[in-house]
Amino acid sequence: MKRFNKLFSFTLIVAGLAMISCEGPAGTPGQDGQDGISGTDGTAACNACHSGNQMMLAKVLQYNNSTHSTGENAAYCNRNGCTECHVSQGFLDKVKNGAAEASYSDPLQPNCYTCHEIHQTFTLDDWALTTTAAVDLVHGTGSYDKGNSNLCANCHQARSVSPMPAVGGADVTISSRYGTHHGPVANILASTGGYEVAGSLTYKATGHYTMISDGCVTCHMSSPYGTQAGGHQMSMGYDNHGATTLNLTGCTTCHNDATALNTAVSARQQKTQGLLDDLKAILIAEGVYNEATGLANGGTYSADLAGAYLNFQTVLEDRSLGVHNPSYTEALLTNSIEKLSVK
Ligand code: HEC
Ligand code: HEC
Ligand code: HEC
Ligand code: HEC
Ligand code: HEC
Ligand code: HEC
Repeated sequence: MKRFNKLFSFTLIVAGLAMISCEGPAGTPGQDGQDGISGTDGTAACNACHSGNQMMLAKVLQYNNSTHSTGENAAYCNRNGCTECHVSQGFLDKVKNGAAEASYSDPLQPNCYTCHEIHQTFTLDDWALTTTAAVDLVHGTGSYDKGNSNLCANCHQARSVSPMPAVGGADVTISSRYGTHHGPVANILASTGGYEVAGSLTYKATGHYTMISDGCVTCHMSSPYGTQAGGHQMSMGYDNHGATTLNLTGCTTCHNDATALNTAVSARQQKTQGLLDDLKAILIAEGVYNEATGLANGGTYSADLAGAYLNFQTVLEDRSLGVHNPSYTEALLTNSIEKLSVK
């Protein structure tokens, strides 16, 4: 019934219009207006990204499944000293204006706008990264300079360590929160920021820094495994029937045998875990590490002991168990263990 009514009124309107146009003789035609220059379609630029080819959707879905999206520490970290790495608006203020605000309304996790110049020119140029400048490391010496991954190093670097003990120097007083914070990866890759006490191993650079032109991006953002690893999900590993499988698509230019590489990763990680366990036992016995809290016992310690704790905490928080920089992490742990075992 409704449909019939609509049809009926439509017919009436059309009939009315037809009647109007039949009225009387036509008047003299008006003067032709100037033809306007035809413009480009207003949405053509938008279509470069907002089209039906699912290219952008793939990145969005990968990102949605990442810790960048789901970690949810932005609200917790919406305070002085934390926003520059944990809140999207804070990072952009730091990069564009030199400093982040103490807090923001609507604090956001890192997202497309944090890393890309989205909706600045409304062209494909907007995929440009918000920064690719080399990063002066806050802790340790020198800078991190590896192409597109400089973006990552701004946030995934150690925070300042105070006091930093001089090797073999005076005792230092440390707080329970002593250390490099979470994610000192840029420092580990660049082989800097550890307490480099002398021992049987030397502190060296790694091919994972010197030979890889886009650093983190080459390994963590390589061809993805669905939305579970790689690409804009950025994890190295994904769950495969209850076990973690590594997405090795970024490694094959240098390591061409996947089976051998998996074995090498396991061996390296087991070795690092063993050294961490050994050093941890010493740090507990010396009273500097509190296993219950996972933090230091605040107090005054020798430079060697505070430095060994710093090395333990830094390698632990790097979270690759030595893979990022095999020789540097092994030297930090081994030499600390040697130093503290010789009394
Ligand atoms: C360089 C690629 C690119 C171009 C060109 C582009 N956009 Fe976007 N747009 C994005 C991205 C990325 C997002 C955020 C997607 C997300 O978070 O899911 C977005 C989001 C949006 C949104 C959702 C609201 C928001 O701001 O997040 C609207 C609306 C939008 N775009 C409109 C447009 C229009 C209109 C144009 C053209 C004038 C345009 N976009 C051009 C990449 C682009
Ligand atoms: C704006 C600062 C910032 C930038 C830039 C940034 N990250 Fe992150 N990243 C974080 C924070 C913060 C977390 C943890 C998120 C949370 O818990 O809320 C994180 C988490 C991660 C994780 C997940 C760790 C886990 O436990 O699952 C990976 C992997 C990662 N980032 C890699 C990268 C790579 C690769 C880049 C560069 C392409 C990058 N990040 C750029 C701040 C940043
Ligand atoms: C230099 C950048 C930077 C600053 C400044 C920073 N963080 Fe983080 N934080 C990170 C990154 C990167 C991660 C993720 C590391 C990872 O997953 O390996 C992280 C992780 C965390 C986590 C998650 C840890 C976990 O185990 O899940 C918490 C909580 C956190 N930060 C709190 C804070 C607080 C509170 C502040 C300020 C007092 C702060 N952060 C300042 C970079 C920073
Ligand atoms: C943590 C930083 C980070 C975040 C968040 C991020 N991207 Fe990216 N994106 C990158 C980096 C780095 C590259 C370059 C990768 C490379 O060099 O292989 C990139 C590349 C891209 C490209 C390819 C650009 C080109 O020039 O062809 C697209 C498309 C893209 N991102 C879309 C997105 C979208 C959509 C979002 C939000 C859902 C997003 N990105 C969020 C860091 C990020
Ligand atoms: C040589 C390749 C390589 C490079 C370069 C690299 N990573 Fe990793 N990363 C790994 C591997 C392998 C792991 C261990 C994954 C596992 O055991 O599940 C890892 C672990 C991590 C983790 C722990 C959480 C996770 O997803 O497993 C974070 C966070 C991380 N890397 C961030 C970074 C950042 C940020 C950079 C650059 C500053 C970087 N990585 C550079 C290969 C790399
Ligand atoms: C650009 C070349 C390059 C890429 C890409 C690369 N590696 Fe390596 N890798 C090296 C070199 C060189 C060494 C030798 C050790 C060193 O220089 O620190 C090495 C050593 C290793 C080792 C052996 C460490 C030990 O126990 O001695 C492991 C494990 C490893 N890489 C894992 C990976 C993984 C996983 C990826 C990808 C996510 C990767 N590598 C990507 C060059 C590369």
